[in-house]
Amino acid sequence: MGNIAIIGTQWGDEGKGKIVDILSEQADIVARFQGGNNAGHTLVINNKKTILHLIPSGIFNDNATCIIGNGVVIDPRILIQEITTLNENGLKIGPNRLKISCNAHVIMPYHISLDLLREIKKIGTTGRGIGPAYEDKISRKGIRMSDLLEEDILTNKLDEVLPEKNLLIKYYNGEELKKDEILRNYLNYGKILKDFISDTHHLLIEAKEDGKNILFEGAQGILLDVDHGTYPYVTSSNTVAGNIFSGSGVGYKSISKIIGITKAYTTRVGSGPFPTELFDSVGSTIREQGGEFGSTTGRPRRCGWLDAVALKYAVKLNDIDSISLTKLDVLNGIEEIKICTSYKINENEFDYFQNNCYFLEKVKPIYKTFKGWGVIDKKKVKTFNQLPTEAKDYIKAIEDIIETKISIISIGADREDTIILENIWED
Ligand code: GDP
Ligand code: IMO
Ligand code: MG
Repeated sequence: MGNIAIIGTQWGDEGKGKIVDILSEQADIVARFQGGNNAGHTLVINNKKTILHLIPSGIFNDNATCIIGNGVVIDPRILIQEITTLNENGLKIGPNRLKISCNAHVIMPYHISLDLLREIKKIGTTGRGIGPAYEDKISRKGIRMSDLLEEDILTNKLDEVLPEKNLLIKYYNGEELKKDEILRNYLNYGKILKDFISDTHHLLIEAKEDGKNILFEGAQGILLDVDHGTYPYVTSSNTVAGNIFSGSGVGYKSISKIIGITKAYTTRVGSGPFPTELFDSVGSTIREQGGEFGSTTGRPRRCGWLDAVALKYAVKLNDIDSISLTKLDVLNGIEEIKICTSYKINENEFDYFQNNCYFLEKVKPIYKTFKGWGVIDKKKVKTFNQLPTEAKDYIKAIEDIIETKISIISIGADREDTIILENIWED
């Protein structure tokens, strides 16, 4: 047994929430280490759907302590809402179940205003204030969770940053924000969250030394990584597994397995290049069958074929050990299914990914075509061998192309609809 990491390998929404929920059955700790409430992780348990934005997807496993690490940016209003909703649904989310890093940065109202006002640049952000909050963290103007517990510190910090933020907001023709109101609200959030806030680095180290099972839950996906994704059409954090260490405060020897979560096709929300995007009726079929509408913003997701060139890139960037292939059932009934195996610009063929938008906007995908499989009856199919032959061929082809094994196959949104080929927690 060791600690494992779950990483999205595409442009997010691969089904990380579902897989984390399943794997957390054997976890003592489930920790988020980056992103914020731009994430929308969906869990379906006995037909009941829950979307989590900040609380780790292990929260439905009573034995797991959930950690929101220092690398996450937290909107405390949303976090309190999320805790309240879960409690109303019968969970008991007290400070024993949820720990929030004292060093995690806080999303302030001016971050949200600026995120929305700057959207004239059309990145297509979620408008949750993520980018501006990370900007302040890096420029050392940020407010951290522990600051919400000290009136003097919070007042001084607001005195320092708010005039500058209001100037910017005015520049973008937005409405200026009032210090007193922010102070009152955020001190109140601090009061509510006080007992949840602690030194989570310390907790993780202790858990590691005690031989506990830790699961690190990534948000977004590799192609949205601020360094390795399709910049500038990315999020503002590092989504790669490498960020687990700085985003939670553990060393690199703390992880023994990295599982990449990959949809059987590709989706993207927001702007930016997408070589395998489909603009025809097949794209619409995938969107409808897959319910491809954002868990956070409700926006229709752009849909396309599986891009194995990008997937190979994600595997190598993260040293991915195996893939959890999700939403295979969404391709039910599609006659011909394609996988992009290389890109072409004029006569030049490329079988490797370049994280350069100008390159990606020009490439034409080269596809391998596979015969579709009709329907996977998720009530009957419980093992790999029970899958239709064509579906098995598709899965094997993916493994061959990316030279990485598939360890979990998901054929429906519910916990039940999962074929586990390997015990991920075993060495
Ligand atoms: P995440 O952000 O990676 O956690 O993914 P999202 O929750 O944003 O989007 C995945 C969507 O697909 C959610 O609505 C899930 O309930 C759903 N889902 C996950 N796995 C499967 C699957 O194998 N089949 C189907 N049909 N839906 C799935
Ligand atoms: P999960 O964890 C899909 C996208 C936004 C936008 C870009 C920047 O559910 O997979 P941001 O608000 O982060 O500054 O937006 O990143 N994006 C996501 N797309 N899934 C997500 O999270 C995303 N989080 C951000 O749509 O294109
Ligand atoms: Mg999502």
